[in-house]
Amino acid sequence: MRILFVGDVMGRAGRQAVTRHLPGLISEFGIDFTVVNGENATHGFGLSEAHFKTLVDAGADAVSLGDHAFDVPETRSFIEREPTLIRPVNLPEGTPGRGAMLLPAGERQVLVIAAQGRVFMDPVDDPFRAVEAAVAECPLGESADAILVDFHCEATSEITAMGRFLDGRVSAVVGTHTHVPTADARILAAGTGFISDVGMCGDFDSVIGMEAAEPVNRFVTGLKSERLTPAGGEATVCAVVIETDGKTGLCASIEPVLRGGVLGPKGNEGPDC
Ligand SMILES: [Fe+2]
Ligand SMILES: [Fe+2]
Repeated sequence: MRILFVGDVMGRAGRQAVTRHLPGLISEFGIDFTVVNGENATHGFGLSEAHFKTLVDAGADAVSLGDHAFDVPETRSFIEREPTLIRPVNLPEGTPGRGAMLLPAGERQVLVIAAQGRVFMDPVDDPFRAVEAAVAECPLGESADAILVDFHCEATSEITAMGRFLDGRVSAVVGTHTHVPTADARILAAGTGFISDVGMCGDFDSVIGMEAAEPVNRFVTGLKSERLTPAGGEATVCAVVIETDGKTGLCASIEPVLRGGVLGPKGNEGPDC
């Protein structure tokens, strides 16, 4: 089975890039199941119902969330109606929505789990035990033909530890949240696909997707002067294609894929990727 995972969609530029490039990626790689992280799709903070539908219309079979899961107030209600919208599994008891869901991919079943890290992030419950409990309910090779874990982390040590913790038990552990794609996609010793961060779908002529002036001002002066605004130049789509082994459900290959805009300054043609 081939799974496409697409990193944090950042504002309008990210949404437009996903709408433009996702259908082509799905057909080019013969994708069976697509997961998109939508936590920044609505002006950089959260996901409205309309923008959730935009991602689904573009081809997302599931949409995962992170620390911005509930920044848009309406998400608290519409997430209850949308079984394909997955918020972090390790949020407190009683949080709306679900953190893990077994979803159909043709005749097969994919377990999608989202989790949020604890290092340099707001306090949440233990992600390791929460993910382990979700996997125990739908083990790989039994109820689930594939298991994808979106681990939303600031620290590469924490995501790497999750990869090792789940190695051999899930198809892939993919990192999100930093918005910067890492060059460490690989298959771990016991067969789990891994990448520390997939990167974002956003304008890279920015500070992690936001217009650069205000983040630079905040670091330089320590003062908040303006709201953060998503950068509006053409976005780059950052994704990974994961192929699973038909017998074990473990990872046969994991390849980063970049499409669309430029990673360099506006007006410069970046590498053809
Ligand atoms: Fe994000
Ligand atoms: Fe995040």
